[in-house]
Amino acid sequence: MISKPMQAALSQQLNHEFGSSYLYLAMSAYCSYADFNGAAYWFKLQHEEEQFHATKVYDYLIEQGVQVALTQIAEPDADFSSLLAVFEASLAHEQEMTARLNDLSDLALKEKDHATYNLLQWFVNEQVEEEASIGAIIAKLGMVKDDGYGLLMIDNELGQRADLASA
Ligand code: FEO
Repeated sequence: MISKPMQAALSQQLNHEFGSSYLYLAMSAYCSYADFNGAAYWFKLQHEEEQFHATKVYDYLIEQGVQVALTQIAEPDADFSSLLAVFEASLAHEQEMTARLNDLSDLALKEKDHATYNLLQWFVNEQVEEEASIGAIIAKLGMVKDDGYGLLMIDNELGQRADLASA
């Protein structure tokens, strides 16, 4: 059984993972509307990945015998000025998630809760990969700026992203 403070913090993280999923769906919707169909697909997969993260936290809480309470998910930002702005917002969001996971890891160590700490390290490692892949996309978008052909090439590349099952 995990401690009450750890249960509360993980329940909050469960909400944040669903919030991430919701945010990425909003980003996908923006990209579809702006005719960046490759990016829309990329964010849709990101939306699914965050659902997977939420489920991972949920399953762990259930396994630990916690009575899970689902809470309201915040309305995500949905208005962006460019493809670059969407990815920059995505990176800022992931950096916030990384900070949360680091705080959660600190709490798990304070509570001497090594099972939860192990679970959290999976997420911490995942954050490194997420921040790196989004950062690489931002770098490319920075290179092409407003060049239509360049944007088309990047959008096409984003549409080639492997899905969760084949990743
Ligand atoms: Fe579940 Fe992108 O952090």
